[in-house]
Amino acid sequence: MERLKDKVAVITGAGSGIGRAAAELMSRQGARVVVADFDTEAAAETAALIDKAGGLTLPVTVDVTDEGSIVDMVAATVAEFGALNVLCNHVGGTNPRTDLDVLRMDMDEFHRAVSRNVTSTLLGTRHAIPHMIRAGGGSIINTASVAALVGDVLQTSYGAVKAAVVSITKSTAVQYGPRNVRCNAIAPGAVMTPALENNLPDGVIESLKQGNALPRLGSSEDIGHTMVFLASDESRYLTGQLLVVDGGMTMQSSAAPGRRAQLPA
Ligand SMILES: NC(=O)c1ccc[n+]([C@@H]2O[C@H](COP(=O)([O-])OP(=O)(O)OC[C@H]3O[C@@H](n4cnc5c(N)ncnc54)[C@H](O)[C@@H]3O)[C@@H](O)[C@H]2O)c1
Repeated sequence: MERLKDKVAVITGAGSGIGRAAAELMSRQGARVVVADFDTEAAAETAALIDKAGGLTLPVTVDVTDEGSIVDMVAATVAEFGALNVLCNHVGGTNPRTDLDVLRMDMDEFHRAVSRNVTSTLLGTRHAIPHMIRAGGGSIINTASVAALVGDVLQTSYGAVKAAVVSITKSTAVQYGPRNVRCNAIAPGAVMTPALENNLPDGVIESLKQGNALPRLGSSEDIGHTMVFLASDESRYLTGQLLVVDGGMTMQSSAAPGRRAQLPA
């Protein structure tokens, strides 16, 4: 089944983790995929995986914090594939070593976080929309996080910038819905990507698992499948929404992990 037949999808941050999984899954569903990443080699690796599986792809080197670079990415997409139907503004994140509580957080890191998460989402959106309108509509998928929904003792910048991503998602959906451009966001929970694995202190994985209703942490494919759905016409009546894909992490009562042993075997 080719759920994304005839669609051209641009995915930023597709050289690794969730972005790479989304690129492979979208290609499997028939999309032509632009694999956009800061890391030229990583983008080429993702593109090679797609090529090997028989998909059509274009690796592009991009810095999503730079407007000129975004303009070039969009131009390269349209030059190669003739259209742009789906944009995943996926690059984001902060440095967990310096993104601390409000008293100790590094303000330079905060400004970098705004640039990597918020500016990048706005720039990708504003340069993709004219092409989507020309194509009769399109789907923009922004990557937020459960950090946008709950407070934490650390990662003040991360929560703030991801909340801004949710707000941009709603504004875009309202402003361009009349032109048939949909815009939704995904809030992943803990997903075992290189970014997360390399930064987690010992013991944290087990406590994260305890915080989930489902008995495991997320995989890149778990999020990638949701991105395929949002890119496809199956989600055609869905816009301005935040889909929380977190294994039940944020809906669970804080008492639940301690009471789990009381469940019947
Ligand atoms: N992994 C998780 O648990 C998790 C949870 C919630 C949200 N997220 C979000 O998912 C997104 C990606 O996370 P991931 O775990 O897939 O990360 P990752 O580190 O595996 O991949 C990020 C990719 O983005 C690229 N990149 C970084 N800066 C860039 C720039 N300026 N321009 C272009 N490319 C750039 C990197 O080269 C890398 O290939 C982020 O927005 C992150 O906040 C991740």
